[in-house]
Amino acid sequence: MKRNVIVAPSVLSMDYSQMKEQLDEVSASGAEWLHFDVMDGHFVPNLTFGPDILKGFRKACDLFLDVHVMIERPAFFSEKFLTAGADNYTFHYEVMKEVEDIHNLASLVHSQSKSVGISIKPDTPVEVLKPFLNDFDVFLIMSVEPGFGGQKFIPESLDKIRTLRGWLDEAGSKAHIEVDGGINETTAVLAKSAGADVLVAGSYIFRQNIREAVKSLA
Ligand code: DX5
Ligand code: ZN
Repeated sequence: MKRNVIVAPSVLSMDYSQMKEQLDEVSASGAEWLHFDVMDGHFVPNLTFGPDILKGFRKACDLFLDVHVMIERPAFFSEKFLTAGADNYTFHYEVMKEVEDIHNLASLVHSQSKSVGISIKPDTPVEVLKPFLNDFDVFLIMSVEPGFGGQKFIPESLDKIRTLRGWLDEAGSKAHIEVDGGINETTAVLAKSAGADVLVAGSYIFRQNIREAVKSLA
């Protein structure tokens, strides 16, 4: 089935000395989402940006702000990012202690009429997502170990995407499957044919002509 593909450039790999110019290029490129990687130095061994920086991005572009939090306390920070302008808020399955916490955070984000996503790391089996097929708008399958841009695509992610897409189709869910990490013109084709419809790309896009890179992924 042909799905509309959304490209989500990840600002983690942006040249921050040319933020505005690069954001304008992304907006002109046809990319619909902007992927915003939040890291707390605990869940992953890297530290990035918080809600105040997201406010700046919100003012600087009209793109759909797709916030991916790789942090230990996603519930605690959720309102701050939503208020700062997040359109989607994706948190990690691995930091949630109880199933109830997952449902509660998803409902909290929905109560603010925002999109909510759940993400799993490469070592987490896709089966953990099965109980939540109707609770989320976005399922983010990490195709690299979270924490850094520029890593190599993990091909085992494709089976997870295929399996998940089968379950979502069976459940009649229109949720997005987003793939994140090591996406380039080759792995994008594989991910799309496995059933992903949102492609995150950081280093591939920001290391070359932005418009051409985005076009080559869609
Ligand atoms: C990694 C982040 C990814 C990363 C993708 O923890 O979640 O979004 O920025 O970067 P590339 O596309 O360079 O693998
Ligand atoms: Zn990400």
